[in-house]
Amino acid sequence: MAKQYSLSDIKTHNDNKSTWIVIHNNVYDVTNFLNEHPGGEEVLLNNAGKEASENFELIGHSSDARELMVKYKIGELVESDRKPVETKIIDWEMYKSTNKTASSSSPSSLNSWLITLSLGLVATIVYRIFLQA
Ligand code: HEM
Repeated sequence: MAKQYSLSDIKTHNDNKSTWIVIHNNVYDVTNFLNEHPGGEEVLLNNAGKEASENFELIGHSSDARELMVKYKIGELVESDRKPVETKIIDWEMYKSTNKTASSSSPSSLNSWLITLSLGLVATIVYRIFLQA
């Protein structure tokens, strides 16, 4: 099992002497990466000692960047300090499926309404022709 760190352990590693960052519940020691980071050391130092998943994702880091991270992983965030990431994913899935039902039900109800309307129209025309005959 990977070494577990709490947010209060991580908080103390917040300068260029020791720079730890939490991304997706993994703890990274990027002290030796500061000079190499293509995005510059400033952004890493701004996020030092903190949970930076959102900032990391906002940049849209490449898969190369994600592979590189592995090299700097030193452990994981203790369970009790983790944000409920899984719940977010489930919420999103629920949102998507709710949305899907809502959007797929509206065109189908529109369709059945149109069918009813055109049937009525056809019936009227047939009735008129029949009456005129
Ligand atoms: C271990 C953690 C990290 C690694 C290994 C890493 C790696 C990289 C790499 C390889 C790039 C080049 C572009 C790419 O391949 O996506 C990059 C760009 C960048 N990164 Fe990171 N990064 C890390 C954490 C962070 C964090 C926490 C931030 C905070 C906001 C950040 C901000 C940026 C920015 C601003 C760029 C420049 C994007 C651009 O020029 O378009 N990075 N990073």
